[in-house]
Amino acid sequence: FVERTPLIAGNWKMNLDHLQAIAFVQKLSWALKDVKHDFGDVEVAVFPPFTDLRSVQTLLAADKLALTLGAQDVSPQQAGAFTGDVSAAMLAKLEVKYVLVGHSERRHGHGESNETVGEKARAAQAAGMVPVICVGETSEDLEAHGAAAIPLAQMQAAITQLPANAEFVIAYEPVWAIGSGQAATPEQAEEVARALREALRDLRGDDRAAATRILYGGSVASQNIAAFMRQPNVDGALVGGASLKVDEFSRIVQFKK
Ligand code: G3P
Repeated sequence: FVERTPLIAGNWKMNLDHLQAIAFVQKLSWALKDVKHDFGDVEVAVFPPFTDLRSVQTLLAADKLALTLGAQDVSPQQAGAFTGDVSAAMLAKLEVKYVLVGHSERRHGHGESNETVGEKARAAQAAGMVPVICVGETSEDLEAHGAAAIPLAQMQAAITQLPANAEFVIAYEPVWAIGSGQAATPEQAEEVARALREALRDLRGDDRAAATRILYGGSVASQNIAAFMRQPNVDGALVGGASLKVDEFSRIVQFKK
């Protein structure tokens, strides 16, 4: 039996400039400073826009704040003539630990293919960071193929580009649940998370499958977090809108099982 440390991740998307980010992280750290869960540790990560990473990193290092830093995207390329892109090496230098790849807003808003997502995961991993591979079905996919088929295919396509022993996190975010206020039910989330873990067993073996954290994302809020966290295969949450409010996000972090 492997203990998976729950991960609560706040994806800020394109919100909070660097001054707002500094104020936000200070308030959040204060709000979370005495939080203890009776079942053990919870890891809390924030995923600010690129322009905030340096400010947040400086704050976390100076104050030894117990938050980890993530980035929302990364270039699949190493360096060179890629205007507007940010490389994995640049992120690693800022003590970024996690990198989101394949968020639906990248897949659907920027036409990122499974192949590109895998290359990004590979670039992040090769630079020493942990890719958070986002997968999820649209409502059309759900009707046509059921919930798990597309997430499974997306996960498989991405992880085949990673070395056999690589650590990664999977974030299951049904596209229809993102920003809609209509979260999946905990049972729906568990069903897909279980299918993903079963597939991981075949793809990466029992140990990696047991150690890999699978997050749920899509309209997570303080009222529904506990029900998701009670699911045996759901190991945390990727939170969008509710991660931008200190009070609400700290209530989410303090979920009770
Ligand atoms: O990455 C998190 C996100 O897509 C979910 O957004 O606003 O529904 O929590 P939200």
